[in-house]
Amino acid sequence: MTHVILKADADDAAKLAELAAITFPLACPPGSPPEDIAAHLADTLSEDNFRVYLADPDITVLVIDAGGELRGYSLLVDRPAKDPHVAAALTVLPAVELSKCYVHPDHHGLGVAAELMHASIGAAAATGAGGLWLGVNSQNARAIRFYEKSGFRTVGTKSFRMGNTVEHDFVMERPIAP
Ligand SMILES: CC(C)(COP(=O)(O)OP(=O)(O)OC[C@H]1O[C@@H](n2cnc3c(N)ncnc32)[C@H](O)[C@@H]1OP(=O)(O)O)[C@@H](O)C(=O)NCCC(=O)NCCS
Repeated sequence: MTHVILKADADDAAKLAELAAITFPLACPPGSPPEDIAAHLADTLSEDNFRVYLADPDITVLVIDAGGELRGYSLLVDRPAKDPHVAAALTVLPAVELSKCYVHPDHHGLGVAAELMHASIGAAAATGAGGLWLGVNSQNARAIRFYEKSGFRTVGTKSFRMGNTVEHDFVMERPIAP
């Protein structure tokens, strides 16, 4: 696949929401109620949400662009962690949050995600941060393995409410300069 990794712009909001609707369910544990997934998509990953993210100076969105089709994205937030469990767990500060990292299932296992991660680490480095952190569902074994391969280690846990369910996330971090 010929692709480039680019910083997203405001025109990408609709395509990002479309991609998020395909990829977010893949990160949810088996048995997640479909209505909770739909509510999360509507509340957090809609086209309007992405428009807001793309206009936020503290947020960087990177996309894998294959001839105009988006095949993956990451979203970085350059703000101190609000969650007290996260704030207490992080060891490398200041830290940027890798809030979202999603690749279209057609492109899993091809090394494209590693390219997106490399670009995301570069974008975090450009903010002057020392660390990069993320939350990943404790049942998402594939993503956890990918993050471990990408130099992250688990430093804590946090809870994440989706609908009526409380999900448990691992908090992982890596120094930007390994
Ligand atoms: C997470 C994601 C970006 C990683 O991209 P990818 O192309 O799948 O990553 P890779 O193939 O390089 O690495 C995945 C690793 O997990 C392993 N793996 C796959 N399924 C697994 C499973 N069920 N249990 C444990 N490991 C698993 C793979 O073998 C590979 O490890 P290896 O290279 O040592 O063999 C991608 O899978 C994705 O977008 N998933 C859906 C959305 C998601 O979960 N995003 C993360 C939200 S926090």
